[in-house]
Amino acid sequence: MSFEVADTLDMSTPDAKRASYELLVAQVRSVLEGERDWIANMAQFSALVYQSVPHLNWAGFYVARGEQLVVGPFQGKVACVRIPFARGVCGACARSREIQLVADVHAFPGHIACDSASNSELVLPVLAGDRLVAVFDLDSPLTGRFDAEDSRGFAAAVAVLASGTDWP
Ligand code: SME
Repeated sequence: MSFEVADTLDMSTPDAKRASYELLVAQVRSVLEGERDWIANMAQFSALVYQSVPHLNWAGFYVARGEQLVVGPFQGKVACVRIPFARGVCGACARSREIQLVADVHAFPGHIACDSASNSELVLPVLAGDRLVAVFDLDSPLTGRFDAEDSRGFAAAVAVLASGTDWP
């Protein structure tokens, strides 16, 4: 299969950002079409996001294993391997099952600094029915990189991944 991915989505204005997330969600559908393997889909999803969304220095999954998160497919620098649910922005997402939008990670109590370049973070729960299977974590070198539109856009993309994948 060959697939053309838009190299950098335009997120420079609110309208451009909305349109870019519509395109991203459509690309997620195309990239995952015909494949339901969870490792393959998480890997492709991370690569697509990292390749096309501007101003990111890390994008990937932490998989839920009991009361811990274990690093899964990602793009970016080598990261922390295990994060207890009790710790970090990812742990807060896993515990609450709610999207965590952190404008300044240095002001977030318990933030785990895997890459000192990260200044803001967005973490979304990945749910298979009522089961938390993973979180999807995005880091940016820009403070305040993520807003409600990013949160909505990634929630839509993650929902396509969650329903298009067979989770163990
Ligand atoms: N900053 C995260 C840890 C994971 S890395 O950013 C890849 C946290 O506080 O949970």
